Amino acid sequence: MEFYEVIKTRRSIRSYKADPVPEESLRRVLEAARIAPSGSNRQLWKFYVVKNPEKRKEVAQACGGQTWIGQAPIVIVATGWKVPFSRGGYMGEMSFIMDVSIAFTQLILAARAEGLGTCWIGDFQNTEVKKALGLPGDENVVAVTPLGYPDKGGFTENTSRKPLEEIVEEV
Ligand SMILES: Cc1cc2nc3c(=O)[nH]c(=O)nc-3n(C[C@H](O)[C@H](O)[C@H](O)COP(=O)(O)O)c2cc1C
Repeated sequence: MEFYEVIKTRRSIRSYKADPVPEESLRRVLEAARIAPSGSNRQLWKFYVVKNPEKRKEVAQACGGQTWIGQAPIVIVATGWKVPFSRGGYMGEMSFIMDVSIAFTQLILAARAEGLGTCWIGDFQNTEVKKALGLPGDENVVAVTPLGYPDKGGFTENTSRKPLEEIVEEV
C-alpha cells in the first residue's frame, strides 16, 4: 500500500471482527516497531502481544473500562523504562516515552498497511495494566492498542484536522 494512502486512511478503530490476525501480518507489524529509530539507538522498549481473552479483558478494564478494546483478537501493550542518561534537552530520563511513541507510530501505520485496525490508547492505569500482565517493575506502559480487522466504520480519510495554514508558520 502506498505510504501516503496509509497515513491518510489510518483511523482509530473502535469496533473489531473476531477474525484472527494472520501470524505473518502480526510479524510485519511488530517488525515495523522493531526497526524504528530511537535516541542513541537504545531501543528501550518491549511490545507485549496479548491474545488470551481473559487478559485482554483485564487490560481493557485497566484502560478506563473501555471494554471494546478487549474485543479485538489482539491487544498490544508497549512499555519503556528510564535510564540514568540524559540525551540533553528537556526530556532527560523520560525520553523513553518519545522512543516508544515513535516505534508505536510505525506499528499502527504498518497495521493499516496490513488492513488491520488499531486505536492508540492513552487512557490506562500503568500499575493495573502491569498487574494484569505480570510485567517487570521498572517498565512503564506508554501505549496500548487493540489490533484486528475493523468491523463497523473502517478506514476513511480523516477530514477533522486543522488546515496547514493554521499550524505551519515560516519564521
Ligand atoms: C496519545 C493518544 C491517546 C489516545 N487515547 C485514546 C483512548 O484512550 N481512547 C480512545 O478511544 N481513543 C484514544 N485516542 C485516539 C484519538 O481520539 C484519535 O486519534 C483522534 O480522535 C483522531 O482520530 P483518528 O485517529 O481516527 O484520526 C488516543 C490517541 C492518541 C494519539
